[in-house]
Amino acid sequence: MAHLPHGRKLNFAAGPSALPLDVLQKAQSEMLNFNGTGISVMEMSHRSADFTEILTQAINNLQDLLDIPSNYKVLFVQGGGTGQFAAVAMNLMRLKPNHSADYFVTGTWSQKAAKEAEKYGKVNYVLPHTKQFKGVPHVNHWNLDNDASYIYYCANETVHGVEFQEPPSHNPDIPIVADMSSNILSKELDISKYGVIYFGAQKNVGPAGVTVVIIREDLLGRAMPSTPAVLDYKILAANNSLYNTPPCYGIYMCGLVFEWLKTHGGIETTAEKSNLKSSALYDIIDNSNEFYHCAVDKEHRSRMNVTFRIGGSNGNENLEKKFLEEAQNLHMIQLKGHRSVGGIRASLYNAVPVEHALKLADFMKDFQRRFGEPEA
Ligand SMILES: Cc1ncc(COP(=O)(O)O)c(C=O)c1O
Repeated sequence: MAHLPHGRKLNFAAGPSALPLDVLQKAQSEMLNFNGTGISVMEMSHRSADFTEILTQAINNLQDLLDIPSNYKVLFVQGGGTGQFAAVAMNLMRLKPNHSADYFVTGTWSQKAAKEAEKYGKVNYVLPHTKQFKGVPHVNHWNLDNDASYIYYCANETVHGVEFQEPPSHNPDIPIVADMSSNILSKELDISKYGVIYFGAQKNVGPAGVTVVIIREDLLGRAMPSTPAVLDYKILAANNSLYNTPPCYGIYMCGLVFEWLKTHGGIETTAEKSNLKSSALYDIIDNSNEFYHCAVDKEHRSRMNVTFRIGGSNGNENLEKKFLEEAQNLHMIQLKGHRSVGGIRASLYNAVPVEHALKLADFMKDFQRRFGEPEA
């Protein structure tokens, strides 16, 4: 396979993950002297006019891309998705007198979020307990509570490759909270349906270290008194994310990615490309006579993280190892499944070009041709 410019690889990492080459080059060109200031963004006061402009532009571009209504605030925070597992509960658990919340657990991340929320109130598990996350059970099996303070779900489970196509249907008077860490900006959203959306940057948006929270204004100011100031949405909003020193360089990088997305067709394009990329891989899986096996129900398969085993539903570890080695030799990297599930995971975030996914698809076909009949 021909080498990519700068010795770069085809990066299918689950996060931190690929960033657009144009963005990395722009950051490189501005590294030593940002916009004639004679200093790097890393060396700049977070209260300077230049940084204020970077922050404002990043917020404006995200508002444009997602069509965020004016009664929502955009916050840049630290502590990752995991910090938000606690922040959501601390800020919203007390919205209703029962101090309880409904959690959809469809994989590792919503499970962790629910566990964390248990520290701050009562967690009602909406779905039947399972250890095997293969989709979202039918609505007939849901146990929603009308007195819940909020409803929580993870829009895309990065480890298992389970994605909600739509937010779960629910009583619209109860705010819904979505962890969109691994599928934000990959499809159209009606923000007005949500109370809170949050996402760690390190998958579809930028480097690790920045988390974005989009929150409806009427939900501000309801935090438990013990909520740390850096997790209190009202304090963060009142200070335009500058209550303390924010992750300045990460915000700058997110801003470059938002600009890049805007000049490359916005969400309409990312949605289209996500479908193209993921269906190229799922088609091969589905036509492989179970040589490749994806455990997730077709209707909940992730467009971002395609998870599969090789050599049957339990996977043949030798074949999987061979697949990863050969892929690596072809410069396709970070394809190993999460350690808790094994197998292969191809992450196809917005910065992964369609051609890279198609090259992986070609390799999968070729690999099956050569190893398609596993030894008895
Ligand atoms: C969907 C989702 N939510 C939350 C997290 C946790 O994020 P962090 O590691 O930034 O705390 C991850 C991490 O991969 C994730 O994929």
